[in-house]
Amino acid sequence: MRIGVIGLGYIGSVTAAVLANHGNDVVGIDTVKPKVDAFNSANPPIYEPGLSDLIERNRDSLRFSTSYEDLKDVEVVFIAVPTPNRDGGIDLSYVMSAASSLKQVNPDCLIIIKSTVVPGTARKVIESTGMTVASNPEFTREGSAIADTESPDRVVIGGPESASRIVEGIWIFTGAPMVVTTNENAELIKYASNSFLATKISFINEFANLCEKIPGADVETVARGMGLDQRIGERFLKAGIGYGGSCFPKDTLAILSFARSMGQDLRIVDSAITVNDGRIDHAVDVIIDGNPESLRGRRIAILGVAFKDNTDDVRESQPLKLINSLLGHGAMINVYDPIVRTIIEGTTRFSTVEECIRKSEIVVIATEWPEFRKLDPGLVGDRLVVDVRRILDPSDFPLFRAVGYGNASD
Ligand code: UDX
Repeated sequence: MRIGVIGLGYIGSVTAAVLANHGNDVVGIDTVKPKVDAFNSANPPIYEPGLSDLIERNRDSLRFSTSYEDLKDVEVVFIAVPTPNRDGGIDLSYVMSAASSLKQVNPDCLIIIKSTVVPGTARKVIESTGMTVASNPEFTREGSAIADTESPDRVVIGGPESASRIVEGIWIFTGAPMVVTTNENAELIKYASNSFLATKISFINEFANLCEKIPGADVETVARGMGLDQRIGERFLKAGIGYGGSCFPKDTLAILSFARSMGQDLRIVDSAITVNDGRIDHAVDVIIDGNPESLRGRRIAILGVAFKDNTDDVRESQPLKLINSLLGHGAMINVYDPIVRTIIEGTTRFSTVEECIRKSEIVVIATEWPEFRKLDPGLVGDRLVVDVRRILDPSDFPLFRAVGYGNASD
């Protein structure tokens, strides 16, 4: 098919590349020229494993442009623009403006909304453009976005039957079960899914707090024992410093605000947010262990700045929030991240983990990068290690504290 994708963020760019790789002729549109130029030279401005190669391999059927004119001849257009929070609610202006610009050049194509949007948005786009609109929310994770797009657990499609059939055809290669439904249900499935996963994380984080109060308890073992029950499942039961990133924080707030506007409280989602909001203070408590003055003038190595491993994304990064809080406690911060190069005011960045640790007195694991799992106890020596991601074996380090670890003592 001839396919357009508007919005070249993590989702739009991966969608465009994967669809080109499956025999479609794809044009990706973004208003930011340097970004478009970077994609055209197969040098994506974002770090997503495999994306550069995939673009390079599909140069013949994939191109990027800043001009909506290039959407003149396509049959379908995915809208994958941001839907940020505005005053607690969702800002749909990018979606509405993409749809209206598209209408100017190609009013007959099918719009497929991939951006995360509150129920009723597809209907709004139909009302404002008169075009046919389908919903096709994404469930891909940054860091494994290509694999998730190639083989998702399910494909959710909303919209009128004729439109849904077209969207089904596009994703048929995935072999995934298809949930074909109304636009409203498709929109809701995305929020219910992300809210549930966020709740699962907050749930285990609360039990992590409880474990810390019980000598001999360890949330890692509790989570494993729970997760082997197939009704519960092991995934997203990893205790830590709370969820960050571009989706969970934004989506939980958006659905809460949307539900309230409909006169419906979502108390569990509300609590999941509250628990997550408390994670940074809690991580600081674990580090200071009852002595607020213990950080003043001390040098702390923060290992990891990305909101999770395998990405360069620092949107709503819990490690960044932790750094700010520690600075507020008078600590001096050294940082190391294998990919993130963002300058963080008031900190010193190191290009190797070894140097970062050598120049510090305390080591904090803030992102679950695979290379930190192999942290050399010899390198750490007698420094205090605080694992707020639970990726280390406590018995490897003489001075060790961690979230959810009841044996915390030094
Ligand atoms: C998420 C959803 O997983 C995806 O389906 C949706 O489309 C977009 O949002 P992403 O934001 O890329 O994907 O990251 P994800 O892997 O879900 O992690 C989100 C946050 O939760 C990260 O900060 C991660 O460190 C944290 N997390 C995840 C935990 O603290 N514990 C876990 O068990 C899992």
